[in-house]
Amino acid sequence: YTAEIDASDIEKGTYAHYMLKEMDEQPAVIRNIIQHYQNENGEIELTEGVRELVSEADRIYIVACGTSYNAGLVGKDILERIAGIPTEVHVSSEFGYNMPLLSERPLFVFLSQSGETADSRAVLVEVKKRGYKALTMTNVPGSTLSREANETMLLHAGPEIAVASTKAYTAQIAVLAILAYDIARATGKELPFDLMPELARVATIMDSIMAQKELFEDLAERYLKTTSNTFFIGRGLDASVCLEGALKVKEISYIQAEGYPGGELKHGSIALIEGGTPVIALISQPKTNLNIRGNVKEVVARGANACIISMQGVEHENDDFILPHVEPLLAPLINVLPVQLMAYYAALARGCDVDKPRNLAKSVTVE
Ligand code: AGP
Repeated sequence: YTAEIDASDIEKGTYAHYMLKEMDEQPAVIRNIIQHYQNENGEIELTEGVRELVSEADRIYIVACGTSYNAGLVGKDILERIAGIPTEVHVSSEFGYNMPLLSERPLFVFLSQSGETADSRAVLVEVKKRGYKALTMTNVPGSTLSREANETMLLHAGPEIAVASTKAYTAQIAVLAILAYDIARATGKELPFDLMPELARVATIMDSIMAQKELFEDLAERYLKTTSNTFFIGRGLDASVCLEGALKVKEISYIQAEGYPGGELKHGSIALIEGGTPVIALISQPKTNLNIRGNVKEVVARGANACIISMQGVEHENDDFILPHVEPLLAPLINVLPVQLMAYYAALARGCDVDKPRNLAKSVTVE
């Protein structure tokens, strides 16, 4: 592959910030990924090298940091439900010490936008020392993690300049879904829906959400602008997206934020809820809808200021924003957009440097 990079990719153009440009690019990135990973018959096409690598695996270990780790959590659910392959997700900096490998033929999947994250590379070095196989999913062809892995799947997201990763997150989830589908096809698994057309629909829905971005500026104004702390709560896949929402808010608006499984709050952290604490609830999964709405009631009863971002099919008329319906397994591709946008607008409202937040680097090349 050669990444299609031209000057316009690196320039902000008319955008105030790279982060806004890169959020807006997400629909095009999904379409780019569809184009690169399907053949002229509309079938998923991966290289023979990737297919062979994956066909030998009896367990997948996703190894990543930050936003890429959060994407890996979604990838785990998709790989296990679609491909039926046991999948673990590990923070790179924690995994090197104790690689408790419980399988004969593990495949290590490194998720890294930059392909240069030292914590992740340190694990790759250890993986290779032990003779295991590695697949890297990265946005940068020729990056260290790409060169040193057995195989690479590119994100085709175009350069991501803003420190806060956005389009790489949704790109990683899409590429992980494509991998899961290819495994399922190769092993004759029943598929709940046709992936590529659904990804195309996701891209269209992403366009519609990004066209309403000022609604999320209002929500950021209402719920996040003046607060010193906030919670994102959800269940199942939504809980994984809550982690990403919290990370976005922390890293660019410097608000203390936690992503929390809704059912777990009552086991301690609900003690932090007091009058006016903003709690942003993500509700997209039919099977958790009633329970997470019960959790919202719990925090509101303790004074929280609840913001509910739901999805058609599980909506309630009083929700703050109702997203168009997509396959529940792909919902993270849609309900991450509101949290990315709310974090962006909260940072703007608080006068933070959106593209270059304090203390952070785009690629953490130190361990
Ligand atoms: C996310 O917004 C941050 N920039 C950071 O957590 C980042 O995701 C992490 O450092 C991993 O980077 P990578 O994907 O390039 O490996």
